[in-house]
Amino acid sequence: MKLALFGYGKMGRMVEQAAMREGIDVVCVIDPVAGSRGKLNDADVCVDFTEPGVAIDNIKTAAAAHVSMVVGTTGWYDRLEEAKLLVEEGGIGFVYGSNFSVGVNLMFKITGHAAELFSHFPSHDPFIEEAHHKFKKDAPSGTALSLKRIAEAEYGREIPTSSTRAGYFPGKHIVGFDSEADTLEIVHTARSRAGFAEGALFAARWIVVRKGFYEFSEIIEERLRSKP
Ligand SMILES: NC(=O)c1ccc[n+]([C@@H]2O[C@H](COP(=O)([O-])OP(=O)(O)OC[C@H]3O[C@@H](n4cnc5c(N)ncnc54)[C@H](O)[C@@H]3O)[C@@H](O)[C@H]2O)c1
Repeated sequence: MKLALFGYGKMGRMVEQAAMREGIDVVCVIDPVAGSRGKLNDADVCVDFTEPGVAIDNIKTAAAAHVSMVVGTTGWYDRLEEAKLLVEEGGIGFVYGSNFSVGVNLMFKITGHAAELFSHFPSHDPFIEEAHHKFKKDAPSGTALSLKRIAEAEYGREIPTSSTRAGYFPGKHIVGFDSEADTLEIVHTARSRAGFAEGALFAARWIVVRKGFYEFSEIIEERLRSKP
């Protein structure tokens, strides 16, 4: 599999390192600041870790070049419908996800189940907290918004969500349920960005033989239906 990278920042470089470990060729890098090399058309799949404001333009570019795509960039999901049309027009495969770590994707499922259980007990108030490094541009994180959507579907009301931007956290998310008597917390702490990069490559290998528009959670669901 030949790979192109949109964005050669912290995550783009992580994906390149993971690709090297897995024997995947990075044939193209596109980044107006860090520098570009190679041709997008030489790639089978491209991976985007850029910025919220540019993701949709990169999706346009990939669709026009008929190169399938994995988008890890968060903060652009108000334009999902536009992205879907571009993917259809380009006849490409496409996967997006607010978080490519296995742990967080299983946390999504655990959160849905926990929220369903706790929503029967008004004694416990649900809440969401997240912390990321000071360079992160969007807040709340795409992952916190996913957790919020999942829990709110059970509660039918808004759930308080707080964000901290400080230091160098690669990503910490908490879904909690608090009562006068006790607190239950589901906590995910990313130890490094490597897990996100490996998840993005897992998605790239999955989409390279497919067409259509998918969320990363659908790949996880498929894995849960089969024994590894
Ligand atoms: N889905 C996940 O698992 C996951 C994990 C970590 C980060 N993220 C998200 O990925 C994105 C990138 O994170 P990062 O930490 O690598 O950021 P970063 O700031 O380190 O890197 C972003 C890079 O994108 C480049 N860029 C800007 N505009 C561009 C364009 N038009 N075309 C190509 N490149 C462009 C910048 O020059 C920069 O090098 C953020 O939205 C972040 O929230 C997602």
